[in-house]
Amino acid sequence: MKKGLAVMDDPIMKHYVPDTEWFDQSSLEKMLRTYDLVYIKPDVGRQGNGIIRVKRLKAGDYKISYKHSSHLCSRDKVYSTIKEILDPDKEYLVQRGIDLATYRRRPFDVRVVLQKPRDRWRATLMCAKVAPQRSSVVTNVSKGAKDYNLYRLLNRTDQPLRRSEIIRDLIDASQQIAQILGSRFPLEILGLDMAIDKRGNIWFIEANTKPDCKGLEKIDRKLYRKYLRAKKIMRDG
Ligand SMILES: Nc1ncnc2c1ncn2[C@@H]1O[C@H](COP(=O)(O)OP(=O)(O)O)[C@@H](O)[C@H]1O
Ligand SMILES: [Mg+2]
Repeated sequence: MKKGLAVMDDPIMKHYVPDTEWFDQSSLEKMLRTYDLVYIKPDVGRQGNGIIRVKRLKAGDYKISYKHSSHLCSRDKVYSTIKEILDPDKEYLVQRGIDLATYRRRPFDVRVVLQKPRDRWRATLMCAKVAPQRSSVVTNVSKGAKDYNLYRLLNRTDQPLRRSEIIRDLIDASQQIAQILGSRFPLEILGLDMAIDKRGNIWFIEANTKPDCKGLEKIDRKLYRKYLRAKKIMRDG
């Protein structure tokens, strides 16, 4: 889905979406002054392509990470260095980076699939996507991340997280977001990329209108049955 800023005027969305602006030199500099971690990503993107992470280091240098490599530069070189990586034909967003919670030191985010079998959005599938490496910039399965059972994983994160509170917050946030998106676009299913930061706060990263649910059956059979039941109700009317 086009990420854009279309739904950002909604107060609930504002609460869950990390601070975001169109990318240019001044928005980048503002973000770097405000946050230690910043992401740059294409407005229309998929599979984690073209995503850049910038991290402020203690010494005052910046670490720019893209694909599998990183390099250090000073503050005044950050913009020009990033500009070289960007596709000149694309528009980009600059976003506050979320310091993702980790599992075995690797960052993960959460996929929540919601369906609207009757008149209410329901979260039917959930899983964690764990990045392949400690240094990974993205947690997309197409970039080597693996799906994990969320309930089991939340008991074993590197940061102590309150599992039932997090699950409740995730479902609550996802339903509110689906409700808002569903009221603006004709949708019956949504796959939300949700993030949990190291302190247990919930964030909304992205919405996918054609989520790929294959493979999730093995991860959580109970939830998968819920997903199939909702799908059947939607198909049979
Ligand atoms: N603001 C952010 N903070 C931390 N990680 C992010 C942020 N934005 C994106 N990511 C990471 O990059 C991945 C891909 O970003 P996303 O916006 O979902 O783009 P795509 O459409 O390419 O999947 C996310 O699943 C997450 O791991
Ligand atoms: Mg995504």
